Amino acid sequence: MAKIKIIGGNRLNGEIYISGAKNAALPLMIASLLSEEKLVLENLPALADVKQLKAILKNHGTQITEQEQNPKDESSIGKTVSFQAKIISDICAPYELVSEMRASFWVIGPLLARMGEARVSLPGGCAIGTRPVDFFLDGLKQLGAKIEIKDGYVIAKAPKGGLVGNRVHFPKISVGATHTIMMAATLANGTTIIENAAREPEVGDLANCLIKMGAKISGIGTHVLTIEGVKKLHGATHRTLPDRIETGTYAMAVAMTGGEVLLKNTNAKLLQSALDILIKAGVEISEEKNGIRVKANGAGLRPVDVETQEFPGFPTDLQAQYMALMIRSAGVANIKETIFENRFMHVAELARFGADIKVDGQVATVSGVPQLRGAQVMATDLRASVSLVIAGLVAKGETTVSRIYHLDRGFENLEEKLKRCGAQIERVND
Ligand code: UD1
Repeated sequence: MAKIKIIGGNRLNGEIYISGAKNAALPLMIASLLSEEKLVLENLPALADVKQLKAILKNHGTQITEQEQNPKDESSIGKTVSFQAKIISDICAPYELVSEMRASFWVIGPLLARMGEARVSLPGGCAIGTRPVDFFLDGLKQLGAKIEIKDGYVIAKAPKGGLVGNRVHFPKISVGATHTIMMAATLANGTTIIENAAREPEVGDLANCLIKMGAKISGIGTHVLTIEGVKKLHGATHRTLPDRIETGTYAMAVAMTGGEVLLKNTNAKLLQSALDILIKAGVEISEEKNGIRVKANGAGLRPVDVETQEFPGFPTDLQAQYMALMIRSAGVANIKETIFENRFMHVAELARFGADIKVDGQVATVSGVPQLRGAQVMATDLRASVSLVIAGLVAKGETTVSRIYHLDRGFENLEEKLKRCGAQIERVND
């Protein structure tokens, strides 16, 4: 199995092109199921999760065509791919295809809205908590669906004339449930009001794409989305938002090693709270026309406490990377995880580098140490795995990270991007 080998100690200098966001790409691709016409998506990242979702969509009957890229044009690194579900040939999303990735469950919204029925396996994904689907099912029931759970599958049926718009109130903010109910509501009869909706930029990206497809949605960027159902959606072309988690990850990598890197094709508004924390910790950050410049001297940063929050707060998907950064801070930082109940699995792995971290319930207390030692570590989930890479970049000696299939789910060309900025990092096969 492939591993990543890192020799720590090099500073990062240069430019990194930020890919399209995985968490935007997945719901955008799923939205193609809502129309028989072509949805063309630009700036799609080449990731294992995107590949897996293509297989799921093909199983439903979607035709997928990749456009030729110009290798000389950096802005065309992200792929342009068209998705056309002229007919839905299968309303079932089987266990074999959806068990690896939680987002694949979201197909239930469009399938139910367009076909009146769906049979979708209960989801899998990163083991960072129980991650139930109660909000999805309650929301779909509010739109009139009858739901049954049998043999690990959710079987959903719409009323005869289709889903019916209604008020849907989520007890807690959920990105996936917001995506799913919003997509389902675009083709429902009447108006749906989603209260306590997620405000994440990826939700706005999906809403904007749906509007281009003919949907009527207002309240984007707020906690209340109003969706007026329409009879049909049509084709459209849409560019995927830059990946704010990838942006934050590389900003933290530079903060860790020291150096100066321009993160291109991204935008500070997508992750202002995380950038503000980095600035407080002593990192220099400046906005440029089409990117963010990150500069750090590589000495221990100031410790700054962090609490994960829904957007616009500090993202849970940057918590592990931030913890890696704080293990070399000049003091003690408390990191509180409020979104997922089991998202500290990287703590045991970071300890192998010599980190001093104590966990008490939802809070990890990180006491900075001056020097990390290279170690053999194992990736436990998607974002946690990249925190081990960040630690490896400054650890003295050699680090090997195993189970890197987690990394391939969410970080496009990670080794290449870091290597071009001076890191000693490579993929090796056992
Ligand atoms: C999405 C992101 C993931 C990110 C997370 C939170 C994608 C592909 N994934 O995941 O990277 O970490 O948002 O920003 O976009 N919950 C319930 N019942 C439900 C649904 C959710 O209790 O029916 C809970 C979850 O267990 C969790 C919280 O709500 O504690 C937030 O989860 P949610 O926003 O749904 O996460 P995802 O959409 O799965």
